[in-house]
Amino acid sequence: MPWLELQLTVSAEQQPRAEAALEDLGALSVTLMDADADTPDEAAIFEPGVGETPLWHSLTLLALFEADADRRGLLHVLHDTLPELAPDHLVLREVADQDWERAWMDRYQPMQFGRRLWIYPWNITPPDDIDASNIVVRLDPGLAFGTGTHPTTALCLEWLDGLDLDGKTIIDYGCGSGVLAIAALKLGAAHAIGIDNDPQALTATHDNATRNAVAARLQTFLPDQLPMDARADVFVANILAGPLTELAPRFAALCRPGAPFALSGILAEQAPELLERYAACGFRDLATTQREGWVRISGCGG
Ligand SMILES: C[S@@+](CC[C@H](N)C(=O)[O-])C[C@H]1O[C@@H](n2cnc3c(N)ncnc32)[C@H](O)[C@@H]1O
Repeated sequence: MPWLELQLTVSAEQQPRAEAALEDLGALSVTLMDADADTPDEAAIFEPGVGETPLWHSLTLLALFEADADRRGLLHVLHDTLPELAPDHLVLREVADQDWERAWMDRYQPMQFGRRLWIYPWNITPPDDIDASNIVVRLDPGLAFGTGTHPTTALCLEWLDGLDLDGKTIIDYGCGSGVLAIAALKLGAAHAIGIDNDPQALTATHDNATRNAVAARLQTFLPDQLPMDARADVFVANILAGPLTELAPRFAALCRPGAPFALSGILAEQAPELLERYAACGFRDLATTQREGWVRISGCGG
């Protein structure tokens, strides 16, 4: 069955109004993408929490409707909601049926991070003669964020590859697909705790851990269900600058003294404020690494 896809390019300021209108109009799904990305692969889907400021200056929203949706009505409501929207920023097209969540998997290729870490999409089998020193994570992110294609994830994977994780407990706060926790387990960590406020992410993390035969060493929790005594020898959080700022005291309590930690999901201009905040919360030896406008902050727990 064909579907109706409505593509809307809006500013960060217009995005909440546009997204709310599309949902009110009965969109079956609304996908947010970076309108300035050079390729669709780089335009990672990012779902800001309610009331959060999106990361990008300009966003493409893709909304999917039943094919027989009232097109004229849709355009009318969107025009009323965003009267300032230029006509060429709104495209309606019929699209053929396909497995929506999985179509992108066809373009998703194995990627190397650091010296030995590889992420292989679930539908591609690593070659038999792959160097035995390589660590391979097989991944199907499902509906969750975290394939390694986004620079924020890549920055964390490279950082993990450079650590001695043997026997350590890692906390992955904002685990998404579980890519970071699972990579850490495969790189030698004894135990991982994945935390996310999206239950779908916890499901994806669990499924991916099972695929990688590390589920017995990984626990997942919603933030308010985390046991009081949970502590990290290594800590990683790839979220967004807003929650990272807010959660700094919580992260400080979760890190054992001296625990290596990394934060990602930070735009370059947001880094100075976060460095100040984390120094004030007792984190030490803070350093930054930048890629494609995104910054990773790393250091040690106080
Ligand atoms: C950018 S994704 C990172 C996924 C994966 N760790 C990676 O590096 O690719 C951020 C994840 O953090 C979760 N998240 C956002 N705010 C959060 C919060 N306040 N507490 C816990 N999880 C949060 C989101 O649901 C999402 O799965």
